[in-house]
Amino acid sequence: MSVDGVRVPRGRAEETRLRLAAVRAVDKTRSIIEEGSHVIIPIVDTRDISSLLGPGTEVVERVFPHRCSRNDPIDDIRDKVEIPEPMKLLLPVKWEQFGDVLVLRLPHELDEHEEEVAAAYASVLRVKSVLRDEGGVTGDFRTPVVRLLLGTDVVTVHRENEVLYKFDVSKLMFSSGNTDERARMAGIACDDEVVVDMFAGIGYFSLPLAVHQQPRKIIACELNSVSHSYLVENIGINHVEGIVEPVLGDNRSLEGESIADRVLMGYVKTTHEYLDTAFRLVKSGGVIHYHETCPCELLPARPLERLRAANPLGRVDVLRFREVKSYSPGVSHVVVDARVVKRA
Ligand SMILES: C[S@@+](CC[C@H](N)C(=O)[O-])C[C@H]1O[C@@H](n2cnc3c(N)ncnc32)[C@H](O)[C@@H]1O
Repeated sequence: MSVDGVRVPRGRAEETRLRLAAVRAVDKTRSIIEEGSHVIIPIVDTRDISSLLGPGTEVVERVFPHRCSRNDPIDDIRDKVEIPEPMKLLLPVKWEQFGDVLVLRLPHELDEHEEEVAAAYASVLRVKSVLRDEGGVTGDFRTPVVRLLLGTDVVTVHRENEVLYKFDVSKLMFSSGNTDERARMAGIACDDEVVVDMFAGIGYFSLPLAVHQQPRKIIACELNSVSHSYLVENIGINHVEGIVEPVLGDNRSLEGESIADRVLMGYVKTTHEYLDTAFRLVKSGGVIHYHETCPCELLPARPLERLRAANPLGRVDVLRFREVKSYSPGVSHVVVDARVVKRA
């Protein structure tokens, strides 16, 4: 059945949709459709909307598919939030949710409304606390720069790929950009191997490996005592006590030589400074998963050169090279899976 819709150039679609939504004219039971350079927004009523339509916009009749999913939560957030109508356009359409704690990045124009904004997101997304992201992560421990806007309790249990991660969202990072890499690690067959995770954190890579594979042992080393204490808890709640051995301290102090079939180097910026330790710990014939943040114009050469320079008497064979994520403009976070022979 054909119903009315507003046909609008793609570049003005979201702004028009918001104006229509503000007077409850959008038909939320039907999906928006695309037509070349235009989109068509289904509406419930054509009365009183002419003043909301800009140039190049018209009311047309079309058949719209019915929406089978729930409303997009951002629509409910915009309905609920008590801020001036034009400011609703500035509300973020993306956010990070870890268990029942939310992290929001807000533009400065919303500064004086941050509490009302946090309350609306918390109510629609049903979270107990909201933090404002004020500048990514900082320092060797990768501590997030966040400020509490709502709630008191910022410790949560986040579930990803059947692994539970308990952590304090105000003190410790959890990179959603690394989700695919954590999933990939979960699929790396390492039956009966001894693995050293040099930068274990709360168990970002150790836990998926322990939960989904059958390594003999994972030595999970972490320098930050806060991360380490959650790592210990996470080993318990994921029931991998017999596999993951948490170690508190600097990975350069780990003892032994040629003890690991596999070494995980899930750290960025200065990872190459730890290659000597990785090569000391890995067995000849073992694998190093080496992460690096690298200017795109130096890829793929620089990470490979660094690996080879750290193993001058031996060989480094690349098994896989992949981009984990874009780290910053012109800089990529990459991971090299390398099989190493210590003396060729
Ligand atoms: C936050 S994780 C990196 C992110 C993670 N790979 C992910 O998937 O989200 C890096 C961890 O390395 C730890 N770290 C830094 N230097 C270290 C060192 N020398 N020895 C052991 N752990 C270290 C930091 O405290 C931090 O917890």
